[in-house]
Amino acid sequence: MGELLRRILEECEGRFVSGQEIGRRLGTSRAAVWKQVQGLRRRGFGIEGARGAGYRLLGRPDLIEEPELFSRLSRPEFWKAFHLFSVIDSTNARAVEFAGKGAAHATIVCADAQTSGRGRMGRKWESPPGLNLYLSLLLRPPVDPTQAPQLTLVTAVALAAAIEELTGLQAKLKWPNDVYLDGRKAAGILAEMSADPDRLRHVVIGVGLNVNAESCDFPGELRDKATSLKIVAGRAFRRVEVLARFLDSFAECYGAFLSGGFKALLPSFRHRDVLAGRKVLLRQGGEEARGKVLGVDESGLLLFRREDGSRPEKIASGEILEFER
Ligand code: BTN
Repeated sequence: MGELLRRILEECEGRFVSGQEIGRRLGTSRAAVWKQVQGLRRRGFGIEGARGAGYRLLGRPDLIEEPELFSRLSRPEFWKAFHLFSVIDSTNARAVEFAGKGAAHATIVCADAQTSGRGRMGRKWESPPGLNLYLSLLLRPPVDPTQAPQLTLVTAVALAAAIEELTGLQAKLKWPNDVYLDGRKAAGILAEMSADPDRLRHVVIGVGLNVNAESCDFPGELRDKATSLKIVAGRAFRRVEVLARFLDSFAECYGAFLSGGFKALLPSFRHRDVLAGRKVLLRQGGEEARGKVLGVDESGLLLFRREDGSRPEKIASGEILEFER
């Protein structure tokens, strides 16, 4: 509803078109045209109406649409399906559902807004509409289940590379799943996998990237910890462009991972590693420990030495609660 009207207004590139002319082209009354105008306004289109002149388009909402997305991809054939929702509980939850129904490898689930966006450690991921990217990638990689967690780091490298291309700024990575810009978190990754003891069934990789959020869009407690591309670069980004860059970057990193393992991406992770050489507070399960991060190894494990100076440990899962800047 309203698509034809939208096309007519777009064709006229900001010039007025009379209600009569629009009505003629749509085959409807002027009253019906007005109703459609209201519908487009509700979707975020800026439309000026002037008595005697008609209607003109002032601005478009920042929409993500499949045809434009795929026309921007360098490797569209990599992706097998794209599901776009205006509001959904969680793209990860929906991708897991799709996986259970046999959806193909390289299926994308994307939403304009989430009502129960999931973060790591059972936290909520703030997901207001119209501003950011929320998506999940369903993958069926031909690798051992023990390698699946490395996909979080592969995704982090892909995300950092895409952000750097778009903003020209250096992105930092905080093991295992955070992307930082200017010392604040701009994106998070949540991987969920399903495996038999010797076979990986699927991995769902959820990505939340703050694109056009302003500081006031974050809840009070996150305001000094979170950032967005817009905040650091000082300009807004079209989400479809950001999404296309990330998907291309992911396809490239995933290819490198399949042919060379995580080792192939280790240098790209290391040169952005924000924790290497820093004192940190690590939480694993219910335990917290202070120590120093030595880096990340070829399997994507965190090398951590406790404060009491014992030998370095290899950490497979955990969270860095604090780190020295
Ligand atoms: C983190 O805690 O840093 C990870 C956040 C991951 C959020 C994304 S938003 C899209 C996808 N769907 C979800 O429910 N969560 C992930």
